[in-house]
Amino acid sequence: MKNIIIANWKMKLNEKQSIQLAKEYRKIKVKRTVEVVVAPSFPMLNEVVGILKGTDLIVGAQNVAVQASGTFTGEVSSEMLSDLGCKYVIVGHSERRTKMNETDEMINKKINQVYHAKMTPILCIGETLEENKIGQRDSVLVRQLQRDLSKVDCLPEKELVIAYEPIWAIGSGQYMEPEEMQIIQRVVKRAISSLYSEKFYDEKVRLIYGGSVNNINAKDFLAQNNVRGLLIATASLEANSFNEIVKQAE
Ligand code: PGA
Repeated sequence: MKNIIIANWKMKLNEKQSIQLAKEYRKIKVKRTVEVVVAPSFPMLNEVVGILKGTDLIVGAQNVAVQASGTFTGEVSSEMLSDLGCKYVIVGHSERRTKMNETDEMINKKINQVYHAKMTPILCIGETLEENKIGQRDSVLVRQLQRDLSKVDCLPEKELVIAYEPIWAIGSGQYMEPEEMQIIQRVVKRAISSLYSEKFYDEKVRLIYGGSVNNINAKDFLAQNNVRGLLIATASLEANSFNEIVKQAE
């Protein structure tokens, strides 16, 4: 499995800005050992897929419906995303958990939907500042993993990306000490091994970090043995910064 760098554009760019940034992304050179995924907002997906055609950049989505299809006004199914050319879907981002009241049960269903449409989920997990302060970080991560990944139909045959994003680090300019990822990795590996197997973790799971990653600190995270990539929002909105980060990934 290659390392993976993911750009999450959130709900920040209008059509013109998305087209402009996608065009600037075209100049990003992707090494053979790295996958680079861009996640624009839903209405921009088709256009961005078109602009990035012929490059090594991969398009992903920021969210997906819990259901496969049917009378769900305003929802977007995994099959629709896959038809558009998406290969990855971000699931369980903390903004969806906290601001849109997404539950672990919904996230579990979304992961199943993503696999059924032959895409790969990028499952986000992470603790709040309060949970961190009272020493609950690891237990929060284990609980999220157990609930989000329980009895997923296609596991352990499929690949999975786990993005550890401490909520207090997202968009705040504050980030975790990169060395701390060694502990996070042990916690995540133990939880996933007990749900499925150690073999599954070793062969199919990539653990990545997200939360105020920029072109200065990216290399410190990427230098950690067990970190297989990065999830980046703010710094991905500027093509040169994002390119700098991609360059540092091997
Ligand atoms: P940030 O966001 O890079 O702006 O901290 C990361 C994320 O929300 O995935």
